[in-house]
Amino acid sequence: MVDQTELHGQMMVIARRWRWCQAWLQLRVMRGRQGDEKALEEDAEAIMAGGGGWCISLSLQEIRIQRRRQQGGPTTIATGNAPYLPPPLRYSRLTQEENLNKLFIRDSREINVLRPDAVLLVNASDAAGRPIPDKLFGIFFEEINHAGAGGLWAELVSNRGFEAGGLHTPSNIDPWSIIGDESSIIVSTDLSSCFQRNKVALQMEVLCDDNGPSICPSGGVGIYNPGFWGMNIEQGKTYKVVLYMRSSGSVNVSVSLTGSNGSQVLASSNLISDSSVVNNWTKMEVMLEAEGSNSNSRLQLTTTTKGVIWFDQVSAMPTDTYEGHGFRTDLMEMLVGLKPRFIRFPGGCFVEGEWLRDAFRWKETVGPWEERPGHFGDVWMYWTDEGLGYFEFLQLAEDLGAAPVWVINNGISHQDEVDPSDIFPFVQEMLDSIEFARGDPDSTWGSVRAAMGHPEPFNLKYVAIGNEDCGKTNYRANYLRFYYALRRTHPDIQVISNCDGSSTPLDHPADLYDFHIYTSAKNMFSMNNRFAKTPRNGPKAFVSEYAVTGTDAGRGSLLAALAEAAFLIGLEKNSDVVALASYAPLFENVNDKRWNPDAIVFNSSQVYGTPSYWMQRFFTQSSGATLLSSSFLTNSSSSLVASAISWQDLQNNSSYITIKIVNFGSDYVNLKLFLDGLDPTSVQLTGSKQTVLTSPNVMDENSLDNPQKVVPVPKGFEYTGSDTGIVLQPHSFTSFDLQKVLSHIRIREIDAVAKSSI
Ligand code: AHR
Repeated sequence: MVDQTELHGQMMVIARRWRWCQAWLQLRVMRGRQGDEKALEEDAEAIMAGGGGWCISLSLQEIRIQRRRQQGGPTTIATGNAPYLPPPLRYSRLTQEENLNKLFIRDSREINVLRPDAVLLVNASDAAGRPIPDKLFGIFFEEINHAGAGGLWAELVSNRGFEAGGLHTPSNIDPWSIIGDESSIIVSTDLSSCFQRNKVALQMEVLCDDNGPSICPSGGVGIYNPGFWGMNIEQGKTYKVVLYMRSSGSVNVSVSLTGSNGSQVLASSNLISDSSVVNNWTKMEVMLEAEGSNSNSRLQLTTTTKGVIWFDQVSAMPTDTYEGHGFRTDLMEMLVGLKPRFIRFPGGCFVEGEWLRDAFRWKETVGPWEERPGHFGDVWMYWTDEGLGYFEFLQLAEDLGAAPVWVINNGISHQDEVDPSDIFPFVQEMLDSIEFARGDPDSTWGSVRAAMGHPEPFNLKYVAIGNEDCGKTNYRANYLRFYYALRRTHPDIQVISNCDGSSTPLDHPADLYDFHIYTSAKNMFSMNNRFAKTPRNGPKAFVSEYAVTGTDAGRGSLLAALAEAAFLIGLEKNSDVVALASYAPLFENVNDKRWNPDAIVFNSSQVYGTPSYWMQRFFTQSSGATLLSSSFLTNSSSSLVASAISWQDLQNNSSYITIKIVNFGSDYVNLKLFLDGLDPTSVQLTGSKQTVLTSPNVMDENSLDNPQKVVPVPKGFEYTGSDTGIVLQPHSFTSFDLQKVLSHIRIREIDAVAKSSI
């Protein structure tokens, strides 16, 4: 028997040879499955006859620790015997943890080196996998937290039509303010606008002049708009200002972008017009190129000329919006990074309203922007000018390459409901919205879309009937009217019910059912099995809102992201019954946080993703991929959740296997990864990439000051064969991308392994 100290000293060497040994073990597992004892013995012989080095081998009768020599037979250093390999287990299918445990040497010193904490077996064969729905992961955009107005919609002016104060004039013009005092200027509102649907206009009576007894201050008097907590003006960029003006006299109005107190002038131009022109409402445009930068700027309209001027519909837009479609570029890039396959919009509670009178009504949001009345969303308690309207949402979906999922108001708000007998106008409104989206350009509503510059139909295929309304008195009766109207007129549209069909079958027809979950991290993690028991037939789930909330979430913590990652892995694995999934909410302007947490946080000039945002980027290849069969043969930590997919990068003509693993526990985990199912004579795998999302403290989060604290980090990763050893960091989410490469040389897997085992 070998000296124990020497044996211990050799353990590191043995550990390095682990890969070689595991090839044997893997063969044993595979042969065991096939019940092919003879082949196993032959394989064992072949391995043992290979090159030199140390090895632990598991023979038919015993466990041997051997020193393998270049020539001659192996020298046996130590042996174990039958108890380690009880006969019934020798060739049994090794899926039970207890079985596998028995295959590892239990000597106290050896066990640390040799026994992994967990073993993940992946069948890499596409043929044994199943397709993941091609739209599984998308986004949910809700007008909440100033996500759109003062967010994704790049309009810099807030309350551009002076409508936010209501129709009772004079009204509050907030956030507009006056430059000058009451001796030089009087500002009021009246109902004299040229726009029929938004009658409020601003009247500015200038009492001072550029000569005479009351001289205006040198900078003039007028009004300014600070936008949404300051406008971000950047040097060298151009801003298009459009406004409507009327006056009984000639006008000379200075249009300027300035710092927050007006002293720093970033860009300025004068609108000069004769009374014969501005006697009637006149649209005026000016392009302002910024000569400086300031993220807390304002737009000023000033004059030094006595008279009365009316203003309406004042807009300032950066000219570098995404695709020229009005979306703020930096926020849009965050969305593009998610590669969303669908976008649900425009809410949420925003669609319902606290009261129906304040609900989102799409017809008020289409057509020329100047004619949109805007509305006060009484759930999230702010005004929207509706620059981002129904058309723009459809455009957004198209720009992202995402399928639009249109949530319609179904005549139910938080506080009031339309009776089923009166619901028809709401049904018609929905049908009109579909005609708007995809009707013929000659149709009533299709022509409105065409006039807005999009004669081609939008690819609208999903309509959700309301939001979180299943428990409401009239929901089912109203729903059926919407459902059958859609079935009759647009049978290709997927209808989404608000009722949860994940536990018991729905009592009404639907293509999909909505499922929302906001919970603690522990619950979310354990919900990775949530859809395992869902009936496999019937409507599929649309998990349209999920997030960890409460204390665990902080303001967007790593802990929350890890729990959500486990949940999403569960959705991938149950994607035979889950069709679509999206995090909620998507955006937050830090100046008006109405919900916590949110995936993407911004102010006028900065943006960052929470760990939950970055977590979602690990799933960008999942939609439409092939879910590979994967399971833990042993998992001592119970904090591990994993999945494997195979997918193609069509742009680069490459194929990959991506394995994602959440370690929700606070310990390092030694993981053995067994990949089988690929024919090594035709396909080889190369370790391409490892990406880890983790941080020293599980409650760590990102912020405007430290936006990169918790972000995915690429790490070196050597794929060392089909039994690669991996160390998972505590509280981490890791993905391993293995590139599939066509093999030109016929190398037997065991030969390849033996060659590197010196
Ligand atoms: O995502 C925030 C809100 O949560 C949504 O508006 C609503 O659907 C849910 O209650």
